[in-house]
Amino acid sequence: MQADVHLGRVVTPLGSGEWQEFSPGFLAVNGDGLVVSCGPWDDAARQRFSQADVVDHSPCLISPGFVDVHLHLPQLDVRGMAGYRLLDWLNRYIYPAEMAFQDTDLARRVSQRLFRELVANGITTAAIYSSLHFEATQIAFEVADDVGYRAIIGKVLMDRNAPDSLLQEPEAAIEESLVLCERWHGHEGRLFYAFTPRFAPACSQKLLGMAAEAAEIQRAYIQTHLSENRAEVELVKSLFPQYPSYTRVYLETGLLGERTVVGHAIHLSEEELGLLRSSGTKVAHCPSSNLFLHSGRMNLPAMEDLGIPVALGSDIGAGPTL
Ligand code: GUN
Ligand code: ZN
Repeated sequence: MQADVHLGRVVTPLGSGEWQEFSPGFLAVNGDGLVVSCGPWDDAARQRFSQADVVDHSPCLISPGFVDVHLHLPQLDVRGMAGYRLLDWLNRYIYPAEMAFQDTDLARRVSQRLFRELVANGITTAAIYSSLHFEATQIAFEVADDVGYRAIIGKVLMDRNAPDSLLQEPEAAIEESLVLCERWHGHEGRLFYAFTPRFAPACSQKLLGMAAEAAEIQRAYIQTHLSENRAEVELVKSLFPQYPSYTRVYLETGLLGERTVVGHAIHLSEEELGLLRSSGTKVAHCPSSNLFLHSGRMNLPAMEDLGIPVALGSDIGAGPTL
């Protein structure tokens, strides 16, 4: 067989808490760059690949690429801003940092660095919040495309409770999102669009509903934040008094579903966990961010018991590292 063979400690995850390990192991890659087999580097494998180019990476680990299901591109350089909890932290550090992404040179430089650093950290797939800017989001897709990255990216949607320069009327915000979605959703089978209402406190009911509808029509993804911080939950109660819970706001506006990833999901009742489960919504668990902003501890065992799909997010820049 025509293949390149890579040797090392080969680790393959099989499911929650289970993995297979071959040490020493091999990974065979065909001429198209596709992994065709892996296994123990024993006499049989040596004979099978006697004609192949063999590269020995020992004692390094060889594993599938990591996936980061929740991170904020414009926050790469505002990591480590400690001392505040979510809502004050957003106002003090994050919104000003995101405003700066109006500058397309900055947006390009940070995008290039982010994708380089993701690759350097072994992360081959990521779900990414851009800023609200159309051009900055377009640039993020272009850079991801240039490096051959696999990503879900979305322009952040906000129409209230943030500085004026970060707000957009729902119609304009959705129109711009649709242009990006039509350009990029499914591009090369590697790039996808996520309608990205930031979180309920920064979005009117109208904007949430329009985002859900557009995502449904386009069969695109949705990403947002849910119940990260207690003050945020209280704010949602006062902004949406017609709904009995934060999760209900998203359910009733059509945002929950199989293609939706909610970040954090910490302060949830049993009923809300049930809504995530029955709607097929996925959860981005961001433990280092939760620690950094003192947001609380997500109930991972409850999610696992219910069968809610959970994956890890760095939540850069509340999370300090990729
Ligand atoms: N909730 C709304 N926006 C954000 C954000 O940028 N980071 C985090 N951690 N939570 C949020
Ligand atoms: Zn986040």
